[in-house]
Amino acid sequence: MSVNRIVIVTLVVACIAGVSCRKHSPLLGDEAGRRTQAAECQFGKTLKELGSTWFADLGPPFGVMYCIRCECVPYHRKRRVVGKVHCRNIKHECPKPSCDEPVLLPGRCCKVCPGDNDSPDIVEEQPPTAGVEEEKSLKHFAAVLTSKMTPTLEGAPTIAADRTVDYKATGRFTFHKRNLYYSFYTSVRPRGVQFVDMRGNILEEQVLTPHSAYQNDTDKVCGVWRRIPREYRRLVREERLQVTLLWERAELAITGQLYRYRTLATELYSALLEGSSPNAAGTAIVSVSTQAPSIHLTLVFTGVFGADDTANSPVTVRLYTNGGKERVVLEEVVRVEKPSPDINVVEVRSAVSNLDLNQMSRQRLSVTISSRSGESISGVVRTRATCELFHAPLAAPPENEDKSTQTTGMAWMYIDKLGALRYHVRLDGVTQPDVLGLVVDRRLVELEDLTPSFHNGWANGTIDQINTRHLEQLYNGELAINVATTTTRSLARGRLAPRPVADARDAPSPSLLVATDSLPTPSSGLIWAAVDNECNLHYEVVLSGTWSEDRTMGLYLEDIPLVAPGAPVTRRLLEEFAGNTVEGFVLGLTPTELTRLDTGVVHFDIKDLHTTKSLLKAHWRQVSIPPACLPHYSDNNVPPVSNINSDANLPEQTSCFHSDSFHDEGAQWVSRSEPCTMCNCHHGRVKCDPVVCPTLPCTNPTLRNGQCCPTCDNSTFDSSNISQGCYLAGQLHAPGSSWHPYLPPAGFDTCAVCHCNSSSLTVRCMRTVCPPLDCDETVALRRVGCCKTCPTPSPVTVPRDPAYLGDQQSSITRSKADVLAAGGCTYPVGRLFENGEEWHPRVFSHGEVKSVKCRCKDGVVKCERRRHH
Ligand SMILES: *[C@@H]1O[C@H](CO)[C@@H](O)[C@H](O)[C@H]1NC(C)=O
Ligand SMILES: *[C@@H]1O[C@H](CO)[C@@H](O)[C@H](O)[C@H]1NC(C)=O
Ligand SMILES: *[C@@H]1O[C@H](CO)[C@@H](O)[C@H](O)[C@H]1NC(C)=O
Ligand SMILES: *[C@@H]1O[C@H](CO)[C@@H](O)[C@H](O)[C@H]1NC(C)=O
Ligand SMILES: *[C@@H]1O[C@H](CO)[C@@H](O)[C@H](O)[C@H]1NC(C)=O
Repeated sequence: MSVNRIVIVTLVVACIAGVSCRKHSPLLGDEAGRRTQAAECQFGKTLKELGSTWFADLGPPFGVMYCIRCECVPYHRKRRVVGKVHCRNIKHECPKPSCDEPVLLPGRCCKVCPGDNDSPDIVEEQPPTAGVEEEKSLKHFAAVLTSKMTPTLEGAPTIAADRTVDYKATGRFTFHKRNLYYSFYTSVRPRGVQFVDMRGNILEEQVLTPHSAYQNDTDKVCGVWRRIPREYRRLVREERLQVTLLWERAELAITGQLYRYRTLATELYSALLEGSSPNAAGTAIVSVSTQAPSIHLTLVFTGVFGADDTANSPVTVRLYTNGGKERVVLEEVVRVEKPSPDINVVEVRSAVSNLDLNQMSRQRLSVTISSRSGESISGVVRTRATCELFHAPLAAPPENEDKSTQTTGMAWMYIDKLGALRYHVRLDGVTQPDVLGLVVDRRLVELEDLTPSFHNGWANGTIDQINTRHLEQLYNGELAINVATTTTRSLARGRLAPRPVADARDAPSPSLLVATDSLPTPSSGLIWAAVDNECNLHYEVVLSGTWSEDRTMGLYLEDIPLVAPGAPVTRRLLEEFAGNTVEGFVLGLTPTELTRLDTGVVHFDIKDLHTTKSLLKAHWRQVSIPPACLPHYSDNNVPPVSNINSDANLPEQTSCFHSDSFHDEGAQWVSRSEPCTMCNCHHGRVKCDPVVCPTLPCTNPTLRNGQCCPTCDNSTFDSSNISQGCYLAGQLHAPGSSWHPYLPPAGFDTCAVCHCNSSSLTVRCMRTVCPPLDCDETVALRRVGCCKTCPTPSPVTVPRDPAYLGDQQSSITRSKADVLAAGGCTYPVGRLFENGEEWHPRVFSHGEVKSVKCRCKDGVVKCERRRHH
């Protein structure tokens, strides 16, 4: 098989699997995309790890194609390594069976005989990711980044270090599941981050998102490298991975290597240490103990030693107050046995006063490292560099559950760049709490009263002076938010759990999940959600209390275009889950789906999948979609509401929006905005027709008040107050009135007249009686009005009504629009099918798939795999 053929197969597969053929993400330098390097493959809507093999699953109705074997292979593009899907048809590679009557086993491509084991249609199952033990052993890493260590690809010319500014940075890296959360302290916010192997190959490259509120408030750079391939996880574990930060000007790039440091697990404060020389930089990893007040510094640095520092070289470590009069808290000379031109590590520990520990939380202490040669680096001790926040759903604690208090809520908080604790608490079901406090979870000892900052359901504020002991408790997850009354110690409560910040949790605010009546005990939850620059939706749900693992729930995303009668709800199941948390993502939402989220009213709904009852619901108010993810409509090119519903994997539910109301597909109604106009909804489009009044048999018909057409019945009755009349197709007609029936989508059928009998209130419709034809029926022309005419004009009275718009069509070739208007379909893109037509779909190298039959009915294609025995 030729190389070309393989490429074609790949493309076709990606498009048929129900995904638009996405172009490659733009490279770094293009503002539109965040992630520019993917060390993984996307196949349809699933992600495949580098090196994995699978059979193409084209989804219903095709199912898994066992002869199409795909692989995610690393592909080198200059310095970059990306994952690419290669699929090939292995049918021709099937070995000749060793017997006369080979059989095709289920899930196989090749016919085999008993004992034939060597076949290309077997893919090795990847062992499940050994995430758990990896996570324990290699959780935390740190790096010091300088310009010196920026790698160049082997053999490539080095960039002349001609620079006017020099950036330094320190990074922290935490593994969580298969994701590496990263954070940096650096002086100027970089534009991009790259993870690079020791030979300079770029394994992952991301454009950093613009400032989020969190990153603004904390002065940190935050992000995550999700789903790291096994191969690269090994590099991290073996400390063979580097990280590079990039700015607009390429020569400003700085790099550092990721190393594991034991004390990162207990780090409470960090410092970025900078010196005047371009290569001098470092970081302090600060751990403390408040029980016996003491401090432990792990200092990681580079570029401090001079040329004559070859062995047993001393460095002086000083910790001192930085505001006003300088006071030394600790000063120690440490000898470095083998000074390294790269990274050096020294550790210092000392007893300090509680006062000094608390100075640290106010950022009043600095660290300096200086060498004999006079080079020194220093920096302020700040909140630890890791990007994290603390959140909690608030609900009645177990001891109060039975009292059915209705107070629920949510809280989240983080330490800002000044070391202050910024908190947000949202309460539901209480107008004014007696006491709202930040407490120690176990004993409910109040650390801070948040009640004064409470108004309008929110307590937003800042605690400037959070001491080191409380900070320690906060990072350890020992603090809680408690709502109390004068009589009840704890009406609602939630323990603040630390979480890394990226994607969903980098959103400005979570949404409160409020319990519905079908939940017996009051419960609550919060949901973080955000759409990243690659148009993927990320979410994380946390529910209060304990949830049985047996209760399967579904997290749904719902949206309606706007709050109006009959608004169509689009509902999408994001994930099934059990327990009280779920975190996940939806890949590559289409521009139309995102438009709906951007312009509509969006809710999250958690349903019990067994009872199908809704348990908790949240209104997602702060939906923010990156502009690059939205389609660009010109003013006169805005799609009708219903068209937005046409995404492949969503239930088909068209409806029409007209004069502030939604109308179901097929409905007809009297226009509220235009007098004497009937409208209908057909294929999601509104069509309105002015009422056509029938010709009446009487000489002076009367036009009653509020009616569009005159009637022959002149009996006196107040027609502006019709409480009775005749109903036809959902419309009320006045007693005695006559009308042309309204038959969407054609409009008024002027070849028929209906009448509402004023005494019996029954409807009778009669077709126009056509005069006998002067010619043979077969040569008669199809009418000008309601009746056929003969080719030679004959004296036929033709009603003056507009031409009948029936659905009889001439059999000559019709335009695509006509076929579609008559319920035809285009599927797959480009092929046109008449309403009612049936066919077998074609799949790339397979040709027609006879086992699948598709049918076009009223604009909708349904395909089914034929069962065979
Ligand atoms: C973050 O700060 C920058 C610069 O001060 C500002 O332009 C931006 O709007 C801020 N973003 C948020 C989300 O607060
Ligand atoms: C509190 O903060 C949240 C999140 O920033 C915001 O949505 C809310 O409007 C604020 N409430 C008040 C009363 O300031
Ligand atoms: C109704 O019309 C009939 C015949 O056209 C006429 O005799 C009668 O007076 C009219 N009644 C009223 C209330 O106008
Ligand atoms: C309509 O008629 C009913 C009974 O015939 C009467 O009770 C009602 O007040 C009338 N409404 C108006 C708006 O005239
Ligand atoms: C109305 O209905 C009554 C009773 O069914 C019938 O006697 C009468 O002829 C009808 N009137 C018209 C105009 O059709």
